[in-house]
Amino acid sequence: MIKFKLNKKAVEVDVPDDTPLLWVLRDELGLTGTKFGCGIAQCGACTVHVNGQARRSCVTPISTLDGSEVTTIEGLPASAGLGEGEFHPVQTAWIEAQAPQCGYCQSGQIMQAVALLAESPEPTDEEITAGMAGNLCRCMAYIRIRKAIKLASASQTGGGNS
Ligand code: FES
Ligand code: FES
Repeated sequence: MIKFKLNKKAVEVDVPDDTPLLWVLRDELGLTGTKFGCGIAQCGACTVHVNGQARRSCVTPISTLDGSEVTTIEGLPASAGLGEGEFHPVQTAWIEAQAPQCGYCQSGQIMQAVALLAESPEPTDEEITAGMAGNLCRCMAYIRIRKAIKLASASQTGGGNS
């Protein structure tokens, strides 16, 4: 039995040790906001936070998470102390920038961007390129994703870097 915190709630799962977190989230716990893209840590669609760090859930065995704190896109507002029905500031910036096209990659993009902004609240273009390089978008929404990150940065730091 693996015990961890998921979106601030204690959970227990009884699955084989090598089960990837992605499939525990989607199949065992019913949280389908985290997406499967490649399964080999190459696309970023499955990005979640483990103890505040961006992590590819498709290659994270559940056995490594005992006692960890996991946040998915569904729990992002709560991770920032926000209530039900509220959006995390990065989600708000995403909406303002109209970043998604099909949307499939976007929860991973947002989770990666939140981790990037936690490390670099005012990222340069180069830092955004480097920080988001592992998150692919088949719809090529990269320009709007970059705009959303800058909007989020400006809203969090009070700057005008949009
Ligand atoms: S599905 Fe995990 S990185 Fe592509
Ligand atoms: S918005 Fe379609 S894959 Fe990124």
